[in-house]
Amino acid sequence: MLRHNSGLRARDSAIGGRRSAFGRRRVRVLAGAVLATALAMSAGCRQDMHQAPRYDPLEASDFFADGRASRPIVGGTIARGFLRADPVFYTGKQGATFVADLPVPITRDLVKRGQGRYNIYCSPCHGVTGDGNGMIVQRGFKQPTSYHSDRLRAQPAGYIYDVITNGFGAMQDYSAQIAPADRWAVVAYVRTLQFSRNVKAADLPAPDRERLDGKAPEGGQTHD
Ligand code: HEC
Repeated sequence: MLRHNSGLRARDSAIGGRRSAFGRRRVRVLAGAVLATALAMSAGCRQDMHQAPRYDPLEASDFFADGRASRPIVGGTIARGFLRADPVFYTGKQGATFVADLPVPITRDLVKRGQGRYNIYCSPCHGVTGDGNGMIVQRGFKQPTSYHSDRLRAQPAGYIYDVITNGFGAMQDYSAQIAPADRWAVVAYVRTLQFSRNVKAADLPAPDRERLDGKAPEGGQTHD
């Protein structure tokens, strides 16, 4: 019994030894956890810039004379990539005079792009052909002059650009919706619409001239 007991004790103490080694490790882990918690708690008490007093956008403030927390941009500030050094491109004017022609090369892609923008932004009032009888006009909005009027055909390209940029009479401006490069694309398309009604037969490519003369079969080559 005793032997049995001592044997048990020996086994116990062996387990105890293992346990105490395990226990020591647990104490170390526990101490680490307590230390970490204490550090975290003490960090929580420090403000630093974790909760800096600040203003929200557009908040009022009595610190500045104008009552606004936000400061206006310093005069003459230009955001990177927004330097508009080319007045002709950005205003359609050379000095005070509208430029007669587009300051960009007129390509098929430009006209196509202009057609897309025109149909989205202009046709609701000016109509897809530029006559000035778009759906909004049919529903009561002021009717614009037809692009095919002599007066508008005689206007320089820069004038049309300027109307898009700054609006005209009852027409709002489209500067927010249409970027400068696209405005010139729209101008190119308005010019195309104007040209389409006044083209001379002699200016047409040969296949189209032949179709006019009734020589080519219906549904022949088209120039879209
Ligand atoms: C919501 C209707 C509306 C839309 C959309 C519109 N316009 Fe107009 N536009 C008008 C009206 C109305 C006038 C005439 C304004 C007046 O005489 O008060 C006008 C006038 C013009 C004129 C002629 C100015 C003159 O000397 O008579 C041009 C050029 C023009 N628009 C171009 C455009 C282009 C390009 C777009 C598309 C980017 C466009 N408009 C979109 C309504 C519109």
